Amino acid sequence: MTTTTKAGAELAREIEKRRTFAIISHPDAGKTTLTEKLLLYGGSIREAGAVKSNKIDRGATSDFMEIERQRGISVATSVMSFEYGGKIINILDTPGHKDFAEDTYRTLTAVDSVILVVDSVKGVEEQTERLMEVCRMRNTPVIVFINKLDREGRNPLELMDIIEEKLSISVRPLTWPVNRGDRFKGVYNLVEQNLYLFRPGKTSIEEDRILIENLEDPRLPKEVGEEDSTQLKEDVELIEAAYGDFDRDAYLSGDLAPVFFGSALNNFGVRELLETFLDISPAPRARETDIRTVAADESKFSGFVFKIHANLDPKHRNRIAFMRVCSGTFQRNTMFHHVRAGKSIRFNNPYSFMASKKDVVDSAYPGDVVGLYDRGDLKIGDTLTTGEQFMYQGIPSFSPEVFQELTNTDPMKSKQLEKGIRQLTEEGLAQLFIQDQGRRKIVGTVGNLQFDVIQYRLLNEYGASCRFTPLNFARACWLTSPDRKKLDRFVESQRRRIAMDKDENPVYFAESEWDLNYMRREYPDIDFHFTSEFK
Ligand code: G4P
Repeated sequence: MTTTTKAGAELAREIEKRRTFAIISHPDAGKTTLTEKLLLYGGSIREAGAVKSNKIDRGATSDFMEIERQRGISVATSVMSFEYGGKIINILDTPGHKDFAEDTYRTLTAVDSVILVVDSVKGVEEQTERLMEVCRMRNTPVIVFINKLDREGRNPLELMDIIEEKLSISVRPLTWPVNRGDRFKGVYNLVEQNLYLFRPGKTSIEEDRILIENLEDPRLPKEVGEEDSTQLKEDVELIEAAYGDFDRDAYLSGDLAPVFFGSALNNFGVRELLETFLDISPAPRARETDIRTVAADESKFSGFVFKIHANLDPKHRNRIAFMRVCSGTFQRNTMFHHVRAGKSIRFNNPYSFMASKKDVVDSAYPGDVVGLYDRGDLKIGDTLTTGEQFMYQGIPSFSPEVFQELTNTDPMKSKQLEKGIRQLTEEGLAQLFIQDQGRRKIVGTVGNLQFDVIQYRLLNEYGASCRFTPLNFARACWLTSPDRKKLDRFVESQRRRIAMDKDENPVYFAESEWDLNYMRREYPDIDFHFTSEFK
């Protein structure tokens, strides 16, 4: 074997070992609890309570203080890596609060699959629907975990229908619950055809579970009662008839979601979820760039930045850029090509996130996330390569929903304000749109909370103060047209309603859905887009 093929085989082995995914849910469905239980399996934590929830559930005014405190936690938990069953698992954390949804959307661009947690009592909630839309944009494979079976939840068959309808995805249960709430008896594994009985217990790893081999086992009616035993047999028959065989290809193409039931709090149904996940979920795959598809096992390194986090120490302005490795092997102290800036860049102390500690990393493989210290060179969406000139796709800005005009209230500090707002928007906290050659600044966000955060951080980290004035816009749309002249004319005629985004692309602000539809009718040659990336 030549050295190259040996290296190639090693790279292929490393890729095959990796599983990079995010757990998503509406707040309170149990994402933190499930993450914690998965980490218990990996042995990276020993007791429950070690993973801190990143949710913020108080009133908006006191929230930003809480966010400051939580920024520390969220650096540590942004990526959690552990080994289990011969695999290296990278869980990418996503913020719980809806005002930070855009951060979640971006993180979803860096994963290969998703576990979606649904509360069995509440069903599919609003934020889940939006997160699924983002998954669908990239055909991300999704596994559903229906949580809190120990609570008096909805009928599981009804839940299947709700998920199919609200999330526009076909489902295939792989486990099935025996009753629920106080009468929750256990979960039947439809693939292995055996039943695990439920014994409440919050921290153990299932040594207290009882296994029943099949539905004919005489212990079944003895353990769960005649009624539940009969019901289970009927349910299983119905499911097998209604859903057919599990089609892994349909899962991998994002068309079919396997469904698991359990109780994260009681660590029940979590092992089935984890083991099936490792069996069926995709290893890092090829990804699209603006010029070609890049296979994960190409020998040359490439990756992209999907998140930037300001350093907590305001005296040291450096930031941490989270980069997903997409192909080849990332090596410390190597010169890489920063495609957007057209220059070489080297990282002396990149770190990995094994066992939720930060460790300096010498090499990383596709699927891994590396933390890079950045002095302002990197932006979200930047691609690093080994010399090749391409940019990874699929890291768009999404249309914000709340808009406010930013006014400087301390003329002595305008430089600080300029720098601060540029850096904070580069972190992805909000989007900045510019009118009148920079004289008018419009900040767009997904929720109101970011305005408090921006004001607070501008003052504390940059010494700049500002005021926000609400604007009556509902959506921002990126504009294109096959006819450049028509686009220029449109931009000129709608000057008050158009601003430039960070890449100098024109964006139209619509006051309402009605307004947007009217413009679409009036200007059929202009295309209005809800994300900044379009083909
Ligand atoms: P999130 O990250 O999705 O926001 O949810 P998180 O895990 O923080 O869980 C939200 C609440 O639901 C927590 O209760 C948690 O204990 C509870 N929970 C999670 N899984 C289960 C389950 O399987 N069964 C039941 N009954 N409850 C579950 P909390 O009271 O908000 O917080 P805590 O004080 O218990 O930590």
